[in-house]
Amino acid sequence: MTTASAAETEALGEQTGSRLKAGDLVLLAGPLGSGKTTFVRGMARGTGSDAQVQSPTFQLVRIYPGRVQLAHVDLYRVKAAGELADLGLDELLDGGAMVIEWGDRVDLRRAELVTFENLGEDRRRLRFEAEA
Ligand SMILES: Nc1ncnc2c1ncn2[C@@H]1O[C@H](COP(=O)(O)OP(=O)(O)OP(=O)(O)O)[C@@H](O)[C@H]1O
Ligand SMILES: [Mg+2]
Repeated sequence: MTTASAAETEALGEQTGSRLKAGDLVLLAGPLGSGKTTFVRGMARGTGSDAQVQSPTFQLVRIYPGRVQLAHVDLYRVKAAGELADLGLDELLDGGAMVIEWGDRVDLRRAELVTFENLGEDRRRLRFEAEA
């Protein structure tokens, strides 16, 4: 899918967030400024959270309570993440859903992968795929 504004990317995130349940894992991949945090802002809204979503670059994880709890992880400063358990994050999936920016740095388990591409100016391409 392509979006032409941050609001459109947020709307796609909201759709993804609205169907999340505990245990769901969404990995976001793509370069700096490609819209990952913008997408998470929509996801949080879709889970019924009114939290302020900012990039947790200086924090590994932020928690947004909602209809389903959403844990927002950013691995920008974690170059090789290993597995979620190595980061102490696996237990958060028992109590809610999780979205991970730079999620391609973590060893995969069953997850949905969204890859972001910057097409110039305000255009972004988002590719959605299910990972086995
Ligand atoms: N179609 C679009 N979708 C998403 N963001 C857009 C779009 N057009 C413009 N933008 C702008 O691009 C920027 C995207 O920043 P954002 O923080 O979401 O990216 P990011 O992928 O999380 O970056 P980082 O890797 O630094 O965490 C924002 O300033 C946003 O307003
Ligand atoms: Mg970000």
